[in-house]
Amino acid sequence: MALVCVEDFEKKAAGQLEKNALDYYRSGAGEQFTLGLNREAFRRLRLRPRCLRDVSRLDISCKIFGEQMKWPLGIAPTAMQKMAHPEGEVGNARAAGKAGSIFILSTLSTTSLEDLANGAPDTIKWFQLYIYKDRTITEKLVRRAEKANFKALVLTIDAPIFGHRRADVRNNFSLPSHLTLANFQGVKATGVGNAAMGASGINAYVSSQFDPTITWKDIAWLKSITHLPIVVKGVLTAEDAVLAQEFGCAGLIVSNHGARQIDTVPASIEALPEIVKAVGENLVVMLDGGIMQGNDIFKALALGAKTVFVGRPAVWGLAYNGQKGVEEMLSVLRKDFEITMALIGCQTLGDITSAMVVHESQYAKL
Ligand code: LAC
Repeated sequence: MALVCVEDFEKKAAGQLEKNALDYYRSGAGEQFTLGLNREAFRRLRLRPRCLRDVSRLDISCKIFGEQMKWPLGIAPTAMQKMAHPEGEVGNARAAGKAGSIFILSTLSTTSLEDLANGAPDTIKWFQLYIYKDRTITEKLVRRAEKANFKALVLTIDAPIFGHRRADVRNNFSLPSHLTLANFQGVKATGVGNAAMGASGINAYVSSQFDPTITWKDIAWLKSITHLPIVVKGVLTAEDAVLAQEFGCAGLIVSNHGARQIDTVPASIEALPEIVKAVGENLVVMLDGGIMQGNDIFKALALGAKTVFVGRPAVWGLAYNGQKGVEEMLSVLRKDFEITMALIGCQTLGDITSAMVVHESQYAKL
């Protein structure tokens, strides 16, 4: 049977992945309230379509930092993609390139950034970064990303430590022994975790390597060592968005890290309006979290995001059928977005207005 929506890919992937990997990808933090909310919050928004507006020719292309995208959707960084499929990050990035989407490579990838660049030369690539206790590790990653033609650095700012993902602790999650964190020769992130202490393999790696003392001043440091645009990922408040602007970031991703860090934070789409209001004129505001269909992309754009990213949906496509699976998932999502655009009466992204999306409470008052 044809796969017609992201949920179909999710179900396929769930049937194919081993429990250790599946739980790692699908889990959120704590009791996973925000995990559900990321999707639920989109349903609380209503579309207000406009009619009779000639939608025979759609143009959904856009530019981000001067790079031409075929549509306003990219692939968010997710770690260790070879757990999903042997084609891993290269398969995912090639599919993104074919779809005209940006691909963000995770620092914790199972493909080195050089191999990714060689394997997907035609894809617009950004590199996701953490700040390591040993700053020379971060600095070397930055140099390698510059050399390998990555176009922006995406600094994850919501992970001084990793959240508590119960399934990973129960499974004592670890990277399968045939895989490595390929940006660091020989690093395996295997069962160094201890379930009894509430840690998993990945948490143990993170707490030994990532610097929990980092502050906004470290953005100034990062800016001082690179000319690449810096995007901060994990912003959920207007206050932090303003700081991102003050410290010279080029953009930000409104994100709750796939609901994997701290539970009961707002859905990304709920946090978006206050952030757009605070910095939307000056920073490129983007969003990830809960995007499952064309309507969701539209709602994020109407509320001021310039582009959105999907993380898990790409992992599901990859698990299902490698690069081809991601291509198929992106094609389903793109067609769905085109249907939304046409039926709401928008030919171009410039036609999207904030009046086209309202919160359900507006109708409840009637
Ligand atoms: C995670 C990190 C790797 O959420 O981003 O597991």
